[in-house]
Formats: sequence, C-alpha cells, structure tokens
Amino acid sequence: MKVSRVGVVGLGGIGRVHIGGWRELGAELHGFDELPESRAVAQEDLGLQVHPDLASLLRSVDVVDVCTPTDTHAPLALAALRAGKPVVCEKPLARTLEEADELIAASEQAGVPLFTAQVVRFMPEYASARDAVAAGKIGRPGVMRFTREGGMPNPQGWYHDMARSAGIIGDVMIHDIDFARWLAGDVVRVYAKLMRPAGPQNGPTHAYAILTHVGGTISHLTASWARQGGSFRTSYELAGSEGMIDYASDQRPVVQTIPGTLAAPAGSSFGSSFTRELAEFRAAIEGGPQPRVTAHDGRAALAVALAAVTSAQTGQAVELPVSATPYEGSAPVAAEVASA
Ligand SMILES: NC(=O)c1ccc[n+]([C@@H]2O[C@H](COP(=O)([O-])OP(=O)(O)OC[C@H]3O[C@@H](n4cnc5c(N)ncnc54)[C@H](O)[C@@H]3O)[C@@H](O)[C@H]2O)c1
Repeated sequence: MKVSRVGVVGLGGIGRVHIGGWRELGAELHGFDELPESRAVAQEDLGLQVHPDLASLLRSVDVVDVCTPTDTHAPLALAALRAGKPVVCEKPLARTLEEADELIAASEQAGVPLFTAQVVRFMPEYASARDAVAAGKIGRPGVMRFTREGGMPNPQGWYHDMARSAGIIGDVMIHDIDFARWLAGDVVRVYAKLMRPAGPQNGPTHAYAILTHVGGTISHLTASWARQGGSFRTSYELAGSEGMIDYASDQRPVVQTIPGTLAAPAGSSFGSSFTRELAEFRAAIEGGPQPRVTAHDGRAALAVALAAVTSAQTGQAVELPVSATPYEGSAPVAAEVASA
C-alpha cells in the first residue's frame, strides 16, 4: 500500500518531532490529541489537519503514528490496527507485556504492520558502531557500558508516575536496553538499582542496571534525570576481544575504535534520525524490506526494562527467557557470542 496520509496521535513533545519527520517525507499530515488546547495549538502552529476525535482521524489516514504517554499506547494502537491501519508506536511499545502481546497478536491476526520506534538504532553514531560490531571489528563483545543522562522532565508530568511510564527505566534506559540487545542478543539476567524520591515525585532520579546477554556479554547501563541544569548526554563503550569502540556525545562526537578509527557523522543527529526511522517504516509498509527494528524487538526491550524495575524493587536479579523470536540482524555477532 502507498503511504500518503499519516495520522499522528498525541501532539506533545515527540509528536511534534514525528510531524517534522513525516513532513520531510512529504506526507499529508493529520493529528489528534485528547486535549482541546493541544489540538488548537497544533492547528495553529503545525498546519496539519486536526481531528476532533480518534475515529475521525482513523477514517482519514493510511498510517497511524502513536506519540502519546506510554500507558495509552496499547488502546490507541489497538484501535488503529483493528481499523486496518498500520501503526508506528513510540517506545516503549506498551506499558505491560500483556499489552505488547495483545498488540503483536492484533497486528499478526489482521495482517497489518506494527512498528516500535526505537530511534537509537537510527542514530548514525549508534548504527555505525553496531555495523562495526556485527562485522567483527571488536571481536567478541565482552563488556559494554551505556549512559543516558539529562535533567528531569516536567515535575508534574506523567513521566514520574511509574504506573503510566515505568519510570526512568521504562522511558530512558529502554533506549540502551534495545541497543545493547541489538549488539549482543537476548538478555537472560538483569540486576538493577533505582534511586527516586519516596515522596513527591520530583526529585533526582537515577537508575543502574547490569544485563547478562545470552552469550555471556555483560552490559552496564546508567540512566539519569539527576543532571539538573546540565545538557542531555549519552555515551557508550563497547569492549571486545579484538578492540574497543567508544563514543560520548559531549566529548568525542566521533566514534573511535581500537585498533583504527571508525568515523561517524559528528554533531547532533536527533531530528534526522527520526526521519530516517519513519522512512524505513514507510518503506516496509509499502512492501520494502523489514525495518531494522520490529515490534518483537520492542516487546523484548520492554521485557528487560520491566525485569529491571522488578529487580530494583526486590533487590534480586531477575532471570529472563530467550525470546521465541530472537532479533535478526547481527547474526554473525550472535553466533560468535553464543559459541564462546
Ligand atoms: N524516541 C524518543 O527519543 C522519545 C522522546 C520523548 C518521548 N518519547 C515517547 O513518546 C511518548 C510521548 O512522550 P512525550 O514526551 O511526547 O509526551 P508529552 O506529554 O509531551 O505529549 C503527549 C501528548 O499526548 C496527548 N495525549 C495523552 N493521552 C492521549 C490520548 N489517549 N489520546 C490522544 N492524545 C493523548 C497529551 O495531551 C499530549 O499532548 C512516550 O511514550 C515517550 O516515552 C520518545
């Protein structure tokens, strides 16, 4: 099918970024937000066709792009799938695994595609590192570190409500969980710590997790909303049997490897990565190749994130099964790691 008309549901922070991406791709844009004031502002600012309700949007578009708070992803995406519309859904795919399973089942039953927008896979500084790992440039991945740190989002907002967002682990760390899994395969064990205020939900929040991948690679992940006043920054360090790749957004905007140097495009790739992501989803809907990230990957990342939340709550490590549909893409890495 041809994707000409796109309906973005949720006209807040990330909805606006997606609208910019779809606009670059030449789509006719429609929008819906549950808040009348958001609809009015979007109509004024963004020049898209704003609908008074979801049903009206569903009647008018080829594809639905869900950009609402995490706990609303499943009901909105289900309504779209049941209306026969392919769905792009912001990460996390859903708030619970039951919801994620329901979405995947609905997509498969209806034969309508469902995509999870794990945008980090589309950032050149991340994608190039993954290509290098998959090509064996660092040998067998041994220990990987990832950080993702910024200031606290709106203190009154839904992000701080664990029941809505799964907190910083479900919202922020899930980016690196997905990326780590893309590099080293399924996660079989998680241990995590979460620091967050006990009372009003607007104090510093910081999470740390250790993942054990199926072949024995270890990932260390830090996610923080404790950098008050500081700029957002991310980093990784991928150490393998033959070399290392490291990157830090605020220090070395070029990916480095030992031995040799791996140049990746410098500077922020934030907006264009979303456009690349949406273009890949659009191509898949139009009959092109499967995109680099699937709904099953979104479900797997959510499973690890929720296990990390459980570990942080109980103080115990959580074991996870290898998924029935393991990720595809870095098979050479997975095979090498698994045989180690
Ligand atoms: N990929 C990324 O880098 C990235 C970055 C930020 C947010 N996100 C994800 O995007 C989603 C939205 O985050 P945000 O920061 O844009 O949130 P936001 O609060 O800025 O915007 C959400 C919008 O959705 C609207 N909304 C809420 N419930 C709705 C419903 N049932 N129907 C229609 N509209 C509804 C709200 O009124 C609001 O305008 C979250 O799942 C978040 O995890 C991803």
